[in-house]
Amino acid sequence: MSLPFALARRFVASESLDGAFPVLAELHSGGLATTLDLLGEYVKDRDVAITARDEYIRIVDSVGERFRGNGTDARNISIKLSMMGQKIDESFCLENLKLLLAHAKQQDVFVRLDMEGSDITASTLDLFGEVYPVFPDHVGVVLQAYLKRTAGDIERMCDLKARVRLCKGAYREPAAVAHQSMKTIRERYLDYMRMLTTNGRYPGIATHDEKLISATKDFVARENIDRDRFEFQMLYGMRPSTQTDLVRQGYRMRVYVPYGKEWVPYFTRRLRERKENVWFVLKTMLKR
Ligand code: FDA
Repeated sequence: MSLPFALARRFVASESLDGAFPVLAELHSGGLATTLDLLGEYVKDRDVAITARDEYIRIVDSVGERFRGNGTDARNISIKLSMMGQKIDESFCLENLKLLLAHAKQQDVFVRLDMEGSDITASTLDLFGEVYPVFPDHVGVVLQAYLKRTAGDIERMCDLKARVRLCKGAYREPAAVAHQSMKTIRERYLDYMRMLTTNGRYPGIATHDEKLISATKDFVARENIDRDRFEFQMLYGMRPSTQTDLVRQGYRMRVYVPYGKEWVPYFTRRLRERKENVWFVLKTMLKR
């Protein structure tokens, strides 16, 4: 049985690109920056990967043209390398990525490489390493605080002055590669937040966790780090009033806005993360 999209509407902007634009406009009117994300993951077929690449190029062109010079911080998209053939053949994926980034540079759109499961972390960072020297202002990466390898990756990205989004990590990972306790993950997150806000380049502090948000605010205040040297990031539909409160308090806030027909895995991750999200969906079902 396929789930009706109405259930996911709180967390997913639309099933189509055109349908996502009114959602972006509403967020911009509240002073929020955005990053647009086409849902989907793990493509196993070359033709499907090429279709995904072409759809990404269409998004870059649409976002670039629509938001050129209008003052909103919206020329920003997030992508998954596994959708462009990373699991089929890395060099094929690299060619797709280069083509996409050439468009992004032309349109002055920033492309964030989302981080997926630990089986492709090294590959994602290698591919990033290949393109970053050519497109330093148009590509950035994500690092996950739960991974044990991340300390070294944060240092490398600070040295490179590459833009990093820091998140906890959303995939089920074994204890051999990832910290399992929330206490340790939070401690690591805060270590990395301090490194990135001090030595990194415009990091994205991506979390809905009040403890991490408060600790970030305290740290940057204590260290006299300007509020425009980093941004908070949250997912569309998660803590919307906190998002606008942060903007009112003078912080930069970017909302990750997913759209597309393949919304079920993303939606399921959001439900797994918080029971409040499950309640919200149940209420939507009962209202129907
Ligand atoms: P978490 O869900 O762990 O909640 C911790 C605490 O925060 C709660 O106990 C509560 O106090 C508070 N809280 C959280 N949600 C709340 C709510 N709705 N209302 C009130 N309080 C709330 N992952 C990944 O692996 N690769 C990626 O590329 C990305 N990209 C990404 C982009 C952006 C913009 C975000 C925000 C997140 C990601 N993630 C991600 C997901 C990330 O790794 C992580 O799974 C989720 O953000 C959940 O962790 P949190 O730190 O947000 O809080």
